[in-house]
Amino acid sequence: MNLSLPRRVEPELLDDLAADDARAQRSRRDLRRIHRAMATLTILERALARGTQAFRPHTLLELGAGDGSLMLRLAQQRALHWPDVHVTLLDRLDLVTPQMLDGLRKTGWSPQAAAMDVFDWLASSDDSHFDIVIANLFMHHFSSDELTRLLTGIAARSRLFLCCEPRRAALPLVGSHLIGLLGAGPVTRLDAVSSVHAGFRAQELSALWPNPQDWELHEYSAGLFSHCFLAIRKPQQ
Ligand SMILES: C[S@@+](CC[C@H](N)C(=O)[O-])C[C@H]1O[C@@H](n2cnc3c(N)ncnc32)[C@H](O)[C@@H]1O
Repeated sequence: MNLSLPRRVEPELLDDLAADDARAQRSRRDLRRIHRAMATLTILERALARGTQAFRPHTLLELGAGDGSLMLRLAQQRALHWPDVHVTLLDRLDLVTPQMLDGLRKTGWSPQAAAMDVFDWLASSDDSHFDIVIANLFMHHFSSDELTRLLTGIAARSRLFLCCEPRRAALPLVGSHLIGLLGAGPVTRLDAVSSVHAGFRAQELSALWPNPQDWELHEYSAGLFSHCFLAIRKPQQ
């Protein structure tokens, strides 16, 4: 079924809850369960394997990293192939616990948490570059104008960008209404529906990526509910 759903971005409930609010904590636990049900890690790993055939990454930035639990699972999978990665977990909220940082260190990676708004990071004088910038369930929070700014800033600071977002289509919309079946609480049940309406389809992110001639772009559906965008910088001639 190909419903033409116009993109609609509205604030999600989780975004307005304090980090230590019990409803927010429940919602973050729900997210971990949803990642397993949606095979998020497998989707990210496949995309990263495709994007890193020509190089081994040493620096990685996750935007909207939440509590870092998805990055920990990724590190546990990838650390054997990519030792000594310096990973930065950026989120508006300070959610990364010392235990999470310890878990990342145990994989051999060097973690750092940055509690800041992504637009403050873009506006900062810090011009650090990253081999990989990654975002999961993050880009859909932003309007087209914000996305244009964000993607332009990411492109200027990265060699590879990958995001995995809700797919704006009929099946994910039905799935989002049924997410309570996975045991998700009230906040996640409402946010899941909002996030599908704010999600992406077709080549919407590619259309906003700057200087596409310098990049290899892939934008595609992944699994039943996800939409991925992968940008790999072409080697300079
Ligand atoms: C839906 S959660 C996803 C968390 C994690 N990436 C995952 O997949 O489990 C979105 C995250 O983005 C963060 N966030 C939202 N707007 C942000 C902004 N403007 N700057 C930085 N982080 C932001 C929220 O605090 C939240 O942790």
